[in-house]
Amino acid sequence: MFTKAFATSFVLGLVPLTIAQTFQRLGTCPTLGCVFPPDQTDFFPGALFDIRVEVHAPVNGSEASNKGVPNQDFSLCIQRESGPCRDVTKVFSVKEAKAETWSFSYFEDLFARDANTPIVVNVASKAYRGLALKTPGKYTARLKYNKSSETVAHWLVRSPSPRKKAKNVILFIGDGMTQAMITAARLLAHKSINGKYQTLMQMDQMEALGHQMTHSIDSFITDSANSATALYTGHKTSVSALNVYADSSPNSFDDPKIETIAELFRRRRGGTVGMISTAFIADATPAALCSHTRDRGQAASIVYEYLNGATALNSSFAWPTSCGGPDVIFGGGAEQFIAGKGSPNGTDFYKAFQAKGYDVVRSNKELQASGVNHKTLGIFSSSSHLSRIQGYRANSH
Ligand SMILES: *[C@@H]1O[C@H](CO)[C@@H](O)[C@H](O)[C@H]1NC(C)=O
Ligand SMILES: *[C@@H]1O[C@H](CO)[C@@H](O)[C@H](O)[C@H]1NC(C)=O
Ligand SMILES: *[C@@H]1O[C@H](CO)[C@@H](O)[C@H](O)[C@H]1NC(C)=O
Ligand SMILES: *[C@@H]1O[C@H](CO)[C@@H](O)[C@H](O)[C@H]1NC(C)=O
Repeated sequence: MFTKAFATSFVLGLVPLTIAQTFQRLGTCPTLGCVFPPDQTDFFPGALFDIRVEVHAPVNGSEASNKGVPNQDFSLCIQRESGPCRDVTKVFSVKEAKAETWSFSYFEDLFARDANTPIVVNVASKAYRGLALKTPGKYTARLKYNKSSETVAHWLVRSPSPRKKAKNVILFIGDGMTQAMITAARLLAHKSINGKYQTLMQMDQMEALGHQMTHSIDSFITDSANSATALYTGHKTSVSALNVYADSSPNSFDDPKIETIAELFRRRRGGTVGMISTAFIADATPAALCSHTRDRGQAASIVYEYLNGATALNSSFAWPTSCGGPDVIFGGGAEQFIAGKGSPNGTDFYKAFQAKGYDVVRSNKELQASGVNHKTLGIFSSSSHLSRIQGYRANSH
């Protein structure tokens, strides 16, 4: 009896699960009209961002519409509080954007993936770049397309803190350091008697502890790219994306960008910026401080962005802010710097950084000998993470 009931509930449980394996056409865009930044976005007043709108026309599949011809006659207006909804070009005093079109494909579900029957989607789009909302308040962005369809995004521009508090900020990031990892560290390193720890981690002695939920904008999965983006910008984004909202276009550098705290600090205050990591320096956690791409895997272009800013990669997607060449860059990953290996154009990035006034150091000795008045690039391992090299040594003993 018990076995039978169990078997039944197992089967009932399994069927809906299988049907529910549906892939998204584009995360953050449940309708055929897409607005980036999407619904529920918070902004720091004056921080720069791009807007992209897309209108989708799936050629086939459950959402097929208009024989796959996307509606080109769309418009975006933005409304503050209950004020009038004004055209995006008026709100930001910018020129009308050039219309773009492209196609992409995706699988509606696992059955379609197994059968290799993708859905083809044609897209019409426009992007408005380097914008800022300076006045705090509630905003509504309305994309009107196909005559009567509308996609609405609610945005909140927060009030700035009335008091200037921090002069300098040092942010330590333990990559992947969730509550469970912190608990494990406490258990391993600190003696407990009858449930009372005899010593505490520094972290447990801090005046204030907070909690941030940095998972991806369109799934509950987190990766270093979207979580570091959340830490450095206050904006959520998709897995693998660095400081951009993932659009559906093929180019991973044209996605709508968001300004990082380092760029903002540099632009507004002329502040200095440093990035130091035990990882390879183009890895997502350090990369998210100063680079913008849909694809965290583009290591060479990420290093190029550190040095020259995002606009230098392609002026069609001009981005009027950058870390200005971070003052200090220390980490691993020499393979992204050595001429010809993975760099765009085969650029020797050691030379390129030197040409822009950087001291380049490759060992502790060179580091100790270098001054503190120069911008400095320190690359200390020839393959990936610094800690991994130590790991290999330990393993070989
Ligand atoms: C526009 O909406 C109509 C229904 O109102 C639909 O039949 C048509 O396919 C839509 N066209 C596009 C381009 O989405
Ligand atoms: C949709 O159209 C494309 C291109 O014609 C085709 O390859 C694909 O199999 C179609 N998908 C489905 C689910 O029929
Ligand atoms: C820049 O982007 C535009 C638009 O996507 C593209 O046509 C052009 O080839 C790109 N230029 C470079 C140098 O990648
Ligand atoms: C490629 O090389 C040219 C000439 O040295 C340089 O101007 C350009 O910025 C380089 N592009 C990249 C992406 O490194």
